[in-house]
Amino acid sequence: LTSSADELAAAAPEGTLVVGVTEVTHYTDRLFRFRTTRPSSFRFRSGEFVMIGLMIDGKPLYRAYSIASPAWAEELEFFSIKVPDGPLTSRLQNIRVGDGILMRKKPTGTLVNDALIPGKRLYMFSTGTGIAPFASLIRDPETYEKFEEVVLTHTCREVAELRYGEETVAATMDDPLIGEDYARKQLRHYMSVTREEYPFRGRITDLITSGKLFSDLGLPPLDPATDRAMICGSMEMLRDTKQLMIDAGLREGANNEPGEFVVERAFVG
Ligand code: A2P
Repeated sequence: LTSSADELAAAAPEGTLVVGVTEVTHYTDRLFRFRTTRPSSFRFRSGEFVMIGLMIDGKPLYRAYSIASPAWAEELEFFSIKVPDGPLTSRLQNIRVGDGILMRKKPTGTLVNDALIPGKRLYMFSTGTGIAPFASLIRDPETYEKFEEVVLTHTCREVAELRYGEETVAATMDDPLIGEDYARKQLRHYMSVTREEYPFRGRITDLITSGKLFSDLGLPPLDPATDRAMICGSMEMLRDTKQLMIDAGLREGANNEPGEFVVERAFVG
């Protein structure tokens, strides 16, 4: 089903990059992480996504994936859902070290530091695989130079789905480049679960509305004078969380017109 990087390079459509899988970790029956080589010509900004894919029945099939590694890293990292009958993920979940993956050359996206006007505190609201762009941004020194305080929230159905985020944050705290100088001083990670017992329960929208998120963190309510936000999750989560930002008086931004919050849909299938 999958092919080696060399085989794929021979079959790849012109103008497409082929990256080689260097590591695969399965977290649950729904979630896995993989890492690939990074072509030296491939540049991106932390938080962006890129189209990746496989040859399926002789044709390339691509989906948008947030790059979970920071812009400075030598390898690329991705955090993916597995959908049993998903056209791409049903196959992608079988990749092994040494396999090849197709990658388009142009990354893009709105969850980038440039799309926000400066502020004191940056909230990163994520559900499920929506944590991926933030796994990139929390490992980029630029994020900490722009914002004094960074609050990453991650909400999942089940406790096991939080593990990728926990591992990534722990590794970030210990990272020689950003751990001591930035992440340990400025990054906070708030996790909640909706369908199992866990110390922190509930959807992020409910935790914002009730004020529990802020009282748990010892922070004031959202304030457009100080707070900025990035949101990544399902369509429904984006819609509802975005409305709460608007209610709090934050304005949506984009690459060409920075604002107080930005949104992007997480990869879904
Ligand atoms: P819930 O368990 O109540 O549906 P998914 O894996 O379906 O994307 O869900 C990831 C997390 O996002 C789950 O904890 C889910 O909660 C939550 N979620 C789903 N819809 C919304 C929404 N409209 N607003 C906020 N959180 C949501």
